[in-house]
Amino acid sequence: MPVIGLGTFGSDNYTPAQIAEAIIGAAEVGYRHFDCASVYGNEDAIGHSLQTIQDQGVPREDLWITSKVWNDRHDDVLGSCRKSLADLQLDYLDLYLVHWPFPNSHGKGVDVHSRDPHAQPYIHADFLRTWGQMEELVRLGLVKHIGTSNMTVPKLSLLLRDAEIQPAANEMELRPHFQQPELFDFVQAHGIVPIGYSPLGSPSRPARDRTPSDTMDIEDPVIVEIAARHGLHPAAICIKWAVQRGQVPIPFSVKRSQYEATLEAVVGSPLTDAEMSRIAGIDKNARLIKGQVFLWKENQAWEDLWDLNGEITL
Ligand SMILES: NC(=O)c1ccc[n+]([C@@H]2O[C@H](COP(=O)([O-])OP(=O)(O)OC[C@H]3O[C@@H](n4cnc5c(N)ncnc54)[C@H](OP(=O)(O)O)[C@@H]3O)[C@@H](O)[C@H]2O)c1
Repeated sequence: MPVIGLGTFGSDNYTPAQIAEAIIGAAEVGYRHFDCASVYGNEDAIGHSLQTIQDQGVPREDLWITSKVWNDRHDDVLGSCRKSLADLQLDYLDLYLVHWPFPNSHGKGVDVHSRDPHAQPYIHADFLRTWGQMEELVRLGLVKHIGTSNMTVPKLSLLLRDAEIQPAANEMELRPHFQQPELFDFVQAHGIVPIGYSPLGSPSRPARDRTPSDTMDIEDPVIVEIAARHGLHPAAICIKWAVQRGQVPIPFSVKRSQYEATLEAVVGSPLTDAEMSRIAGIDKNARLIKGQVFLWKENQAWEDLWDLNGEITL
């Protein structure tokens, strides 16, 4: 897996056409890894770009394309995967993820108070049925690897115990202010690649996805100071830290100057051990993507999605 990928979730800010154009530009500057998902609503536009990239001479085997099955398709993983493959104009995916461990869905653009009336907690037997369909995709040759996203140590422990094909990767929020050391160490110890989403702290996310306690990594004094020393934007420091720590960041941008600078951060001079230690020290355990819309009971708090006491919350 290339050590950095480009995110493709435009949210309210960027159209599928802008993202499709960025994919072509990003491939020109050297990106080979693209993080897609059916729920981002732009895989058909991205598919045209992936075709263009290959027409321009990049072999398919040099690309790493990830997609994800959305929560409302846990019972039809094959159908969902075939749709993503058709939209992306591909014969196979390099990685296919279960986007969330819950079959709880929501409408487009809803605020954090919206709830799925059919929402349920994590039910391991249900998740295993979904995972069995994921394993079938590998056997059919439609995907090379399968993995998870937004998992916790207790949920992953059950999956590792019961899966025939182990997850190759877990996509999770990872940034200097939310380092998730326990989950990070757990996945690494089990040979699972940690893919880090929102690696820059998602500074442009819509107001409905913000809470007063949220923090800004790229404004942290330690990040700002290290950036000044390197003569780089703080975003570049977040990316260097991520790659040197051993996670695969998937920053989003449609701006050439940004995605080019991000890639240069990976190949440019590394952070020193002292700088890495200082960044390790600014973890604030400050989750941005809380997932409130997936809660299943009245009067629950978003923490219930993340098994904070070490047991699966029911
Ligand atoms: N598995 C999951 O559940 C999950 C959840 C969330 C995200 N993701 C994936 O992770 C990707 C990235 O996460 P994200 O989009 O939330 O946040 P992010 O990558 O942390 O932040 C993206 C924003 O950072 C700014 N930026 C990017 N490069 C920059 C640079 N070099 N210098 C300065 N600013 C820069 C841009 O802001 P402006 O646009 O304002 O310039 C951009 O929109 C998503 O696109 C998606 O693929 C997955």
